Amino acid sequence: MEVIITPDRDKAALLTARIVAKELRAKPSLVLGLATGRTMERVYAYLAHFHQQEGLDFSRCHTFNLDEYIGIPAGHEGTYRQYMDQHLFQKVNIPLEHTHLPDGAAPDLGAECLRYESRIRELGGIDLQLLGIGIDGHIGFNEPLSALLSRTREKALTPATLAQNAEMFGGDVARVPRRAITMGVGTILDCGRCLLLATGSTKAAVLAQAVEGPITSMVTASALQLHPRCQVVVDEEASTALRGQEYYRWIFANEPEWAEFRDLDALEPR
Ligand code: F6R
Repeated sequence: MEVIITPDRDKAALLTARIVAKELRAKPSLVLGLATGRTMERVYAYLAHFHQQEGLDFSRCHTFNLDEYIGIPAGHEGTYRQYMDQHLFQKVNIPLEHTHLPDGAAPDLGAECLRYESRIRELGGIDLQLLGIGIDGHIGFNEPLSALLSRTREKALTPATLAQNAEMFGGDVARVPRRAITMGVGTILDCGRCLLLATGSTKAAVLAQAVEGPITSMVTASALQLHPRCQVVVDEEASTALRGQEYYRWIFANEPEWAEFRDLDALEPR
C-alpha cells in the first residue's frame, strides 16, 4: 500500500483523476470500477473536464459501480445510477451500455448479484477500482463484519452509513434505503489496481485504522492491505492520525513512479 498526502481535497481529487486519465490513455478499453459519494464528485468533475477540454476518450471504456440501493425505483434521484449519470456519464462519451451498476430493483436480487459478478468476469475483470471509505470503515457497502472474501451480495446498512448518506435523501435518515447490493471485499480485491480517496477530518481516524491497523472485518477497508497494488490518496485533514506520514511523503517525493504527478499545480486542467 502507498499513501499520497496532498494539501487539500481539491488536489487529492485532481491527482486521483490524473491517475485514472493516465490509465485510460494507456488502455482505452479500460475496465474502470467506480464509487459514488461526496468525495468522488470532484474526481468526476475533473474527468468530465479532461474529456471536454483535453479529449480524454471514454468510448471504449467499461465501468462497474461498487453498489446500488435496494428498494427505490430506477429513476429515483437517490439511486447511484442517477448520481453517475449526473456526475459523469452524461458529461463524457461513454456509451450507456458500457456503464454497469447492480440493479437494485431486480425481481431476483440473488440472481442479479451472480449476473453482476459474471459480467465483470466476461469483460476481463476490473483494471482500476476507485474507492471511498465510509466513516465505519466500509469500502463499497461492505459494512463491519463483512467477510473479507465476500462477493457481490445484498447487505444491510449500518446506522452510521444511513446517517452519512442522508444528504442524498433530503437529510432525512428515515428515507435512506436500508439495504443495498454491493460488490464484496473479495470482488474488490480481484481488481488490478485500487485507488482509495479519503478527504476531510471525519475520515482521519478510520483511515489510520484501515491503513496502519490490523486487517479486520470490523474495518473492511483494512483488507486493502492485502492488495499488491493499492494506493491511497488523502488530503492533510484526513492524514492527521497516520503514524507513517514522514515515510509516505518521502516516497511521493522520491519514487520514480510519482515523478510526473509530483507538481500538483501542473496537473490542473489545461
Ligand atoms: C459508494 C461507496 C461508499 C463511499 C463511502 C464514502 O459507492 O462505495 O463506500 O465511497 O461511503 O462516501 P463519501 O465520499 O460520501 O464520504
